Amino acid sequence: MEVVVLPTPEDCGRVVADVVTAAVEAAPGGVTIGLATGSSPLLAYRGLVARHEAGLRFDHVTAVLLDEYVGLPAGHPESYREVIRRELTDAVGIDPARVHGPDGSAPDPLQAARHYEALVTSLRPVAVQVLGIGANGHVGFNEPGSSLASRTRVKTLTEQTRADNARFFDGDVAAVPRHVLTQGLGTIGEAEHLVLVATGAAKAAAVAGAAEGPVTTSCPGSVLQLHPHVTLVVDEAAAGQLERADYARYVLAHKLAEQGW
Ligand code: GLP
Repeated sequence: MEVVVLPTPEDCGRVVADVVTAAVEAAPGGVTIGLATGSSPLLAYRGLVARHEAGLRFDHVTAVLLDEYVGLPAGHPESYREVIRRELTDAVGIDPARVHGPDGSAPDPLQAARHYEALVTSLRPVAVQVLGIGANGHVGFNEPGSSLASRTRVKTLTEQTRADNARFFDGDVAAVPRHVLTQGLGTIGEAEHLVLVATGAAKAAAVAGAAEGPVTTSCPGSVLQLHPHVTLVVDEAAAGQLERADYARYVLAHKLAEQGW
């Protein structure tokens, strides 16, 4: 795992945008990119929109989302499919037919989970998967206790996650769905390159658990330690509990150009 500690959230967004840009440019014949919602990747997405406006093309890109709320009607402004269209994919010109996410409005969510797992499998390889992390270490919506080998399925959100996400529902916790569909940790781990971005002190414990803690279902992000190609991009505040932050800074300062991301 490469831990990249940078001064500001803007710097983090630039590095994540660089990683996605490299994958988009490397495969002009078609590439699948995994996208995350939440606030953490927004600066990266804004950077990608700016690059698109400067000429970067995305018409060969297929996007797969990590997760979705169960029970929000299709087109609900806070459904993750709508959020990603609003924040990124419409603005960079990815055909909505090539933006895929679990169908949280399906009458049978278990069937929707199986269908999405099969769809993601058919769209592999996922060249880059952008990730955020919850304050409790969740990745996608894989809450603590999730099997490290899990596949796409229905999960029940913790009350903490519902409270954290109430800000997207006018502060109304009751409006945040209890159930979600999420790619499993095993599903996510099949992407070729995982890029997790976290900023702010509220993420410091989760980041330390993911990067340095034991590999445990109690911190789902710790499963990243088993993946061969992970870039963990954090600002100074989110790096606040990392024991090896100094080493990470040293590595970055002496990085060989050939090493890339
Ligand atoms: C959300 C999403 C995750 C996201 C995480 C952190 O609930 N399901 O994919 O990474 O929680 O969110 P944020 O980036 O807004 O802090």
